[in-house]
Amino acid sequence: MDQFEIKGGARLAGTLQVDGSKNAALPLMAASLLADETLTLRDIPDLSDIRNMERLLSELGVSSTGAPGERMQLRVEDPTLCHARYDVVSTMRASICVLGPMLARRGTARISMPGGCAFGHRPIDLHLRGLEKLGARIRLENGDIIAEADRLKGATVFLGGPFGSTVTGTANIMSAAVLAEGTTVIESAACEPEIVDLANMLNKMGAQIHGAGSPRLVIDGVESLCGTDHPVMPDRIVAGTWAIAAAATNGEIVLERFPWDSLLAALDVMDQIGVRVERLDGDSCSSEATVRVTSDRRLLPTVLTTQPHPGFPTDLQAQFMTLLCLADGNSVITEKIYPERFMHVAELTRMGAQFTRQGPTVVVQGVPHLIGAPVMASDLRASACLVIAGLAAEGETIVKRVYHLDRGYVRMERQLAALGAVIRRTDDVTGEVLWEPPVLEGQGSSMPSIEIIPQSKSAESFVQGDG
Ligand code: EPU
Repeated sequence: MDQFEIKGGARLAGTLQVDGSKNAALPLMAASLLADETLTLRDIPDLSDIRNMERLLSELGVSSTGAPGERMQLRVEDPTLCHARYDVVSTMRASICVLGPMLARRGTARISMPGGCAFGHRPIDLHLRGLEKLGARIRLENGDIIAEADRLKGATVFLGGPFGSTVTGTANIMSAAVLAEGTTVIESAACEPEIVDLANMLNKMGAQIHGAGSPRLVIDGVESLCGTDHPVMPDRIVAGTWAIAAAATNGEIVLERFPWDSLLAALDVMDQIGVRVERLDGDSCSSEATVRVTSDRRLLPTVLTTQPHPGFPTDLQAQFMTLLCLADGNSVITEKIYPERFMHVAELTRMGAQFTRQGPTVVVQGVPHLIGAPVMASDLRASACLVIAGLAAEGETIVKRVYHLDRGYVRMERQLAALGAVIRRTDDVTGEVLWEPPVLEGQGSSMPSIEIIPQSKSAESFVQGDG
C-alpha cells in the first residue's frame, strides 16, 4: 500500500489553486441520471471517489467522456440499468446520491445499503423516510434497498435528525423532488454550499428550486430536465486544509479560488488563534477569493464546536486539532456531527500530542512541538491531519494507508511538494519510491533516505524536552 514519507520542518511557501469540490461533484454527477441530454461538468477533481462514481454511473447506463481535472461529459445511454451493486457502493458511501435521481427518472432503484465507516454509524433513515413521503415504496432485500414509485408526488419532508440535517439526504430528496408531480417543501434542509451548487445546476437544467442555502427548500416539480454545462465549486475543505498546513509550518502561501463565503466559521477560528488570512483580490463581494495565509506559529488556544453549515465544518475538525496541538495553552474541541470522529487522536498522541477526551469533547493541551513517527491513516480527514502533523513535526513521519487521501485530495504530495514540503510517496512493503519531487540539476537526492526515530526514543525525548 502507498504511504507518505515526510521530513518535517519545511516552511510552506508558494501558490496553489484550490481544486473542485469532491462533495459537490458527487451529487452533481449523480444528477446526470435525471436527464436524457449530456451533462458537462468542469473543474471535476481527479480523485478516486470521482472514478468510483464514474464506474457506478457506468453500471447504471451512463457513459462518461473527457477526464476528471478537465471537462467531463455524462450521458444516459441505457436507462434500464437500475442496480447499484455492493462492490461499488462499498467503496464509497456517497454512492447513495444515485438513489433519488434514479428513482425519480426510472421509477425503480436498487442500491446496496452502505455499511458503517471509520467514524461510526452513519444511518440513511432520513433519506429513506424523505423518499417515502414523496410516495416511494421502499423495502430491504439481500442487503439492497429497493425503491419503487410510478411518479413521485410533492409533499412536505422534514430532514432534521439528532445531529442536524443531512447533506447527501437533502441532495437526494431535492434531486428526486425536481421531477415529482406538484410542490415539495423540504424543512430542515442542509444549508451546505454543496447543496447550493447542486440546486443551481438543477435549476440550469430546468428545475424549479427556491431557497437553496436556507433550511427551507420549495421545489415545484417539472416534467423533464435538459442537459447543461456547469463548473464545480472549489473545495472548501481542501482550501481549509492548505491554509492549516501553511499555519502549522509557520508558512506563507497564496491560495487562488479560495471559497471565502463558504469558510466563514473556519476563518473566524483562524482569526481567533492568530492565523492571518488576507484577501488579495480586493473584491470583498466575490464568493471566491485569492488569499494569502500567514502565521508565525505563536498560536492562541480556542474553543470550537462542529456544527452544520454555516457552523464550523466537521470535515476540518481533525486538521484544526493538529494546529491546536501547537497552540500556547489548552483548546477544547467538541464534535457535534459525528461524536466518534476522533480516530486521529491516538495517532497524534504517538507524535507527542496531549489530549483528554470525554465523549464528544477533546481537550487539546498545546505542546511546543510534535515529533515525527510512523502513523496510520484511518479516514480521509484524519489522514490529512496526520500529514499536517508530519509537516510541522521535528524529524520524520510516515503516514500509512494514504489511499484515504487519494479519495479527497488531488495528488496531495505533489501539491505540498510544490509549496516546499519534503514529502514522497513510497510502497510500504517494497520501499519503492512511487513519486518524489524531481531532482534539480546540481542537487543530490531530492529527499534523503528516511530513518525513523524509534517511538520509545521519541516519547522519551519529548518528555525530557518539556520537563
Ligand atoms: N444522519 C442520520 N440519518 C440520516 C443521515 C444522516 O442520523 O439519514 C446523521 C449522521 O449520522 C450524522 C449527521 O446526520 O451524524 C450528518 O450526516 P450527513 O448525512 O449530513 O452526512 P453525509 O451527507 O453522509 C456529507 C459529506 C461528509 C461530511 C458530512 C457532514 C459528502 C459525500 N459527504 O456526508 O464528508 O462529513 O456531510 O458535513 O458530501 C468527507 O468529505 O470527509 C466527509 C465525510
